[in-house]
Amino acid sequence: MPLADAIRTIPDYPKKGILFRDITTLLGDAKAFRKAVDELVQPWAGTKIDKVAGMEARGFILGGAVAHQLSAGFIPIRKKGKLPHKTVSVSYALEYGEDQMEMHEDAVNGPERVILVDDLIATGGTAEGAVKLLRKQGADVVAAVFVIDLPDLGGAKKIEALGVPVRTLVAFE
Ligand code: PRP
Ligand code: ADE
Repeated sequence: MPLADAIRTIPDYPKKGILFRDITTLLGDAKAFRKAVDELVQPWAGTKIDKVAGMEARGFILGGAVAHQLSAGFIPIRKKGKLPHKTVSVSYALEYGEDQMEMHEDAVNGPERVILVDDLIATGGTAEGAVKLLRKQGADVVAAVFVIDLPDLGGAKKIEALGVPVRTLVAFE
């Protein structure tokens, strides 16, 4: 089954006019979950990746699986106020709002090779914030990978323009 068929679409969530792409159906399908993780990591299989950074909340689920697959560590990038130790923080714009994200200041040790993971890229505001946080702490952001791309919102191009190659598996126009 194509991965796109495992993703559910909910109209008008969380706001009127948004077509919400729901990955819980993909995560609940063992074959689709494995296929998505395998395809996300495929270009980096056998290469040295030190850490995978995942964005709260859906990036934690995929990012943990990707980190395990690449034998890499995991860095949680969280919404403001959730991390217990000293943090670095950045504000970012969303398709439907604005927020702040944080990372522990010691999450990256020098020029480590890091792959960023999330379920979906829309405007790219979240991923841009995460790239800024990781680079601030000295990381070499090798790639940003997402199951879903919403190309009309231009996020993947925005991240490529920062010099970070982007990999996505399914596009919804
Ligand atoms: C969603 C999604 C990405 C982000 C993409 O998360 O999981 O993280 O939006 O949008 P962007 O490319 O326009 O920044 P959301 O902010 O809804 O948070 P959640 O995962 O905690 O629900
Ligand atoms: N995050 C930003 N836009 C989204 C969408 N359309 N569906 C799911 N998550 C999103």
